[in-house]
Amino acid sequence: MQNRLEKMIAVITGSARGIGYGIAERFAEEGSTVIILDLNQEQVDEAVSRLTAHGYSAEGYAANVTDSERIGEIFKELDAKYGKIDILVNNAGITKDNLIMRMKESDWDAVINVNLKGTFICTQKISRYLLKQKSGCLVNIASVIGIMGNAGQANYAASKGGVISLTKSSAKEFASRGIRVNAVAPGFIETEMTQNLPEEVVKSYSAAIPLQKMGSIRNVADLCLFLASKEAEYITGQVINVDGGLII
Ligand code: NAI
Repeated sequence: MQNRLEKMIAVITGSARGIGYGIAERFAEEGSTVIILDLNQEQVDEAVSRLTAHGYSAEGYAANVTDSERIGEIFKELDAKYGKIDILVNNAGITKDNLIMRMKESDWDAVINVNLKGTFICTQKISRYLLKQKSGCLVNIASVIGIMGNAGQANYAASKGGVISLTKSSAKEFASRGIRVNAVAPGFIETEMTQNLPEEVVKSYSAAIPLQKMGSIRNVADLCLFLASKEAEYITGQVINVDGGLII
């Protein structure tokens, strides 16, 4: 443990598994108290148990990032309990891929709602506490797809492009109170989902990446840690890719 986030209170959405859990674990290793926020209570409890078993400080809430009332209550409770909230990572995200011709409006709405509106809701609900305390930092998980687009992912690309614009706008809005907002744009990252892809598919993905391999959850978590730490105190409104050079 290096204690780069000592005594920090960090909320990570969508953190019962995958990249979100990896970010929570990385932050916890650096001394942060981490708040696991995800849809399913059992999965939240399991993630919290895994972290506390390592001696880390963690607690969890089952919540949907699109439920503004519930999200507001959670931040209120955390502020009352800890007297401050330092970091929010807006990581919760979903995909519902299809070609535009075949995409159901409900799939468009669902992806925009969770990925973009959910990020807005969490940003809005935490902002009153961060603005009051005149400190804090937000890291929004976007995607390289939000920059370059992708056939079959118009809803996802639009949501992540929106997250990037929201990042820049909130960075400008909050900067005078010392609050930083940045976005991380991962490329192809090895997760539980991609672990089951056939070897040929992984090879073809990797061939398009200058560093010739998929990224790890740890690669994304390390960038989030840097952006949340004091080392990034002069960085705001930026989108940083962690993609092995996929977009150069
Ligand atoms: P994942 O599907 O493994 O994990 C997402 C987590 O978010 C799940 O635990 C899920 O329950 C939670 N979640 C979904 N909807 C939610 C909601 N409405 N409220 C609260 N929690 C919710 O996904 P993964 O791969 O870990 O992705 C995490 C983030 O990284 C997402 O925003 C994704 O778009 C982004 N990303 C992932 C890449 C990859 O290669 N895996 C590449 C680029 C971006």
